[in-house]
Amino acid sequence: MSNSKRKLPEELRSHRWYGVNDLRSFGHRSRTAQMGYSREEYAGKPVIAILNTWSDINPCHSHFKDRVEEVKRGIWQAGGFPIELPVSTLSEPFQKPTTMLYRNFLSMETEEVLRSYPADGCVLMGGCDKTTPALLMGAISMNLPTIFLPAGPMLSGNWNGKKLGSGSDTWKYWADLRAGKITEQDWQGVEGGIARSAGHCMTMGTASTMTSAAEALGMTLPGFASIPAPDSRHAQMSAKTGRRIVEMVWEDLKPSDLITAKSIDNAITTTLALSGSTNAIVHIIALARRAGVELTLDRFDELSRRTPVLANVRPTGEYLMEDFYYAGGLTAMLAELGDLIDGTQATVNGCSLGENIAGAEIFNDQVIRRRSNPLMPNNGLAVLRGNLAPNGAVIKPGAADPKLHVHTGPAVVFEDYNDMAARIDDEHLEIDENSVIVLKNAGPVGAPGMPEWGQLPIPKKLLLKNVRDMVRISDARMSGTSYGACVLHIAPEAFVGGPLALVENGDLIELDVPGRKLNLKISDAELARRRAAWQPLPPRFERGYGALHQVHVLQADNGCDFDFLLRKKAQESGADQSVDKASGEPEIH
Ligand code: FES
Repeated sequence: MSNSKRKLPEELRSHRWYGVNDLRSFGHRSRTAQMGYSREEYAGKPVIAILNTWSDINPCHSHFKDRVEEVKRGIWQAGGFPIELPVSTLSEPFQKPTTMLYRNFLSMETEEVLRSYPADGCVLMGGCDKTTPALLMGAISMNLPTIFLPAGPMLSGNWNGKKLGSGSDTWKYWADLRAGKITEQDWQGVEGGIARSAGHCMTMGTASTMTSAAEALGMTLPGFASIPAPDSRHAQMSAKTGRRIVEMVWEDLKPSDLITAKSIDNAITTTLALSGSTNAIVHIIALARRAGVELTLDRFDELSRRTPVLANVRPTGEYLMEDFYYAGGLTAMLAELGDLIDGTQATVNGCSLGENIAGAEIFNDQVIRRRSNPLMPNNGLAVLRGNLAPNGAVIKPGAADPKLHVHTGPAVVFEDYNDMAARIDDEHLEIDENSVIVLKNAGPVGAPGMPEWGQLPIPKKLLLKNVRDMVRISDARMSGTSYGACVLHIAPEAFVGGPLALVENGDLIELDVPGRKLNLKISDAELARRRAAWQPLPPRFERGYGALHQVHVLQADNGCDFDFLLRKKAQESGADQSVDKASGEPEIH
């Protein structure tokens, strides 16, 4: 699969920084000497940028300080020159209002760091939710030889002998606490036991979904996405990644050689078979379009109709990522998917995906189901359309009470998150289990950043009546670790005047998952009257990154990328813009 012609040292991009004999390269070499390196340690070697999203506030990446040393070891062993470059950490639990606001920020940083420094290839170290798509989007746009190094899931949580899953059990026990079913002391026990090691969330949240999608795309070494973060095999794989990226530079094996419409289909099929996070839809659309693949929501729905759910992992299933790894991991699941996966697609190790998964075995077919005994035969995801979502909305039917798959009920409307937080538990709120909870202004522009607010809370008075699921609709996203009959990603969003903005209390809303419909049951004339009367809210930001975001972010059905980051004709023609820019005369200090 590799390109047959190997690069010469003089053809390396970094040669322009180090190899030529001029005043400028003197500066680069003397400053490298300042760091303790002599010429023979780097001259003529591929320079590998290691983009590390480690920080003191990202618990999912706390092992990256060690892993980066293992990557460097592999790079040295293979005759490369490693350069570690810290980039934005996007720590899901801590960054507000949402890491999604900053996904494009990290993707821009990734592209620009690679462009502006003497990188010949790169290793991307990520895993916590948005870090994976952000790093990949930037690297795809830059198109240097790239390997993604997934953080790996943390160990299973444990409390009083019960296995705890990230997110999913937080929502479950929080509901139990609010309903008086567990004590404050129990709740503190859950707090202490739910996250027991380094690594990303170990349910099938966005992190496990996107790292698996990255592997199916061919962007990680085979089998890497499933290895738990503290496992010594994770460290071994990190060193292998370092060795392999050096070879990829000589082979000039780039993302554009790996990412095709078919490998994108493999990533989508993987996401569906995992019953992965709905967030992956937004991210895979953005990735695909950076690579020039014109992916739309409809492709997810088409593949969903034929793809069985095989991963019995929470929140849709029963187990956790540690169990999934011991059951054979992603390679075993991809092998079981058989003809639903296109094995001809190239991957970073120089072999095809089919070669990488050949012979992979399932060791526990309760955790990774056989195609003859799937968790769900198909339809792990549904794309809805109708007068309430002309450009689409999504739902994860497997995470919803089946009784709610076809449901019509009166809307209870919240104008924004603060309105919802203030009134949802008001005992005078007119709501029952047949109502449809509606949250507006939680989309890419309006929230801003489309936070994971889509698992709208069940009112306390209904929780006390043991109501555990209701139809809830919004233009927000939902954590992959969440569950419920939550319609998400409604496009266009309310803030920009989508029909969601026009919903009023008491309007009937029709959800029909088998029919793929989401409709507001009012007349066209009434809808037009409300549209004419609609007044936009003032912009959320007046300056800074937020102001740039609100002007340029695309809607959810278009992947929430910035319009100016979409692939342009110059890149399609193969021009390496980075080299053109890098060859300008720099300042010499
Ligand atoms: Fe980092 Fe969930 S908090 S992946």
